[in-house]
Amino acid sequence: MSRRKVTVVGAGNVGATCAQVLATRDYCDVVLVDIVENLPQGKALDIDQMGAVLGYEPTVTGSNSYEESVGSDVVVITAGVPRKPGMSRDDLVTTNEKIVGSVTEQVVEQSPDAVLIVVSNPLDAMCHVAKNVSGWSKERVFGMAGILDTARFSTFIAWETESSLKDVTAMVLGGHGDQMVPVVSATTVGGIPLRKLVSEERIAAMVERTAKGGGEIVELLGTSAWYAPGAAAAQMVDSVMLDQHRVLPCTAYLEGEYGIDGLYMGVPVKLGAGGIEEVVELDLTDDESSALEASAAAVREVVGVLGSVAS
Ligand code: NAI
Ligand code: 2OP
Repeated sequence: MSRRKVTVVGAGNVGATCAQVLATRDYCDVVLVDIVENLPQGKALDIDQMGAVLGYEPTVTGSNSYEESVGSDVVVITAGVPRKPGMSRDDLVTTNEKIVGSVTEQVVEQSPDAVLIVVSNPLDAMCHVAKNVSGWSKERVFGMAGILDTARFSTFIAWETESSLKDVTAMVLGGHGDQMVPVVSATTVGGIPLRKLVSEERIAAMVERTAKGGGEIVELLGTSAWYAPGAAAAQMVDSVMLDQHRVLPCTAYLEGEYGIDGLYMGVPVKLGAGGIEEVVELDLTDDESSALEASAAAVREVVGVLGSVAS
């Protein structure tokens, strides 16, 4: 039995979780690629055997080469080094630029028609690397961060308001750094604006905790988060593979939208079979627009550190 194919590069914490979530969806073959011998093979085998318990087909393959990945419809890049305590996402830039660049070259060779979803940090800058190395259109190269940041904000809101997470609607935009922008004006719980339910002081505390949400987990675990990130990447794969047209906060290459030009930033996009179908422009308050500009400036600074091939 052969199905459409998704490749996840990097069989570490995030990559293996993404492959695991995709396996449970049961609509595609999944290839897990890593440079470490036996790691992707072992994790793929374990995920396949979990199918006997949870009830999905065992179609995950692990490999140290890209041969099995040939002709993938979607490729997710999680290869790279994660944060350790005391490091910012931006500290990873030079190491991960080389890794993401070389992975992208091999993806282009084996899967020239794929949609590419970048996860490696610093995320916004790594999207620039993948786009420039691949030479692919902006519709087919984008990144995962906003779903994760929004998931964190939504979780804090559910706890604060003692509501179901299912009734929280939120959206976090901007770069995947401490200057990300939770859009409070568009945040509701059961349709009621957050500002009617929670004081400005408590909202500010949740915004702050969201912006530092990655660091909070790094401090607890000694490395960065993977369950929510892996699932967030899988949600983007779903929307592309199943042509769902979901509107999700993703890191997209902007050419004038939100007043930002020539930069990858987190914004709501509609995701379908060909990748990004549309950048959705929300009405932001003046404060939110200013915060987005500040976030863009921070992203530009990191992009400026990239080598000449990617900047
Ligand atoms: P990890 O260390 O558990 O896994 C990374 C894997 O990449 C390792 O297994 C390593 O062997 C592999 N790798 C390294 N170079 C490679 C290459 N050239 N080709 C193939 N595989 C290679 O790290 P983890 O926790 O899975 O994080 C992965 C990346 O994702 C990190 O850069 C991390 O900062 C980032 N991240 C991004 C998030 C986001 O929201 N965008 C959220 C969480 C993590
Ligand atoms: C996170 O936000 C480190 O980007 C990673 O958890």
